[in-house]
Amino acid sequence: MLKYFVAAAALLVLAGCGGVDPNSPEGKRKAAFKQMLNLSEDMGGMLRGRLKFDEQQFAEKAALLDDVSRQPWQYFETASDSKTAAKDDIWQQKERFLQLARELENTTVVLRESAKQQPANTDTLGVRIDQVEKACESCHQAFRIY
Ligand code: HEC
Repeated sequence: MLKYFVAAAALLVLAGCGGVDPNSPEGKRKAAFKQMLNLSEDMGGMLRGRLKFDEQQFAEKAALLDDVSRQPWQYFETASDSKTAAKDDIWQQKERFLQLARELENTTVVLRESAKQQPANTDTLGVRIDQVEKACESCHQAFRIY
């Protein structure tokens, strides 16, 4: 019984990532990206009134986002032939790609620092989150297939 459950759960995970093996580089970078999306949506939600603002939770999410924002890039080592939404330009313009990755990391570290300040200044945090989201977008416009 347990065996079936585990197999079904594994299938669900695969389906969630568009059929990509979760242990492959593609699966790992997608998992990191999804985590970044969840974290930034939670923080945006707290600032925009969708979720209750909690200073400590916000600071924890900001710190985790900063950690995770360093992870996806190592999984773009070689161009892959499996189905992903990464443009081939990434491997032809690796420097530009990594520059946009560093720009994101610069925004998440600033968000992390701002989130440590007490009492929390939600106006400042709102500006910081906008900067993070802009950094996500600039890379997606250049290197992600929609
Ligand atoms: C330096 C480039 C770059 C930056 C910065 C970047 N992304 Fe992405 N992102 C990509 C690429 C490339 C893909 C496509 C990956 C693939 O399909 O293999 C992607 C895919 C995704 C996906 C889809 C994952 C999936 O399951 O298919 C999400 C969600 C995502 N990014 C969220 C974010 C968020 C949130 C941020 C900012 C906090 C961000 N990304 C910053 C390049 C970037």
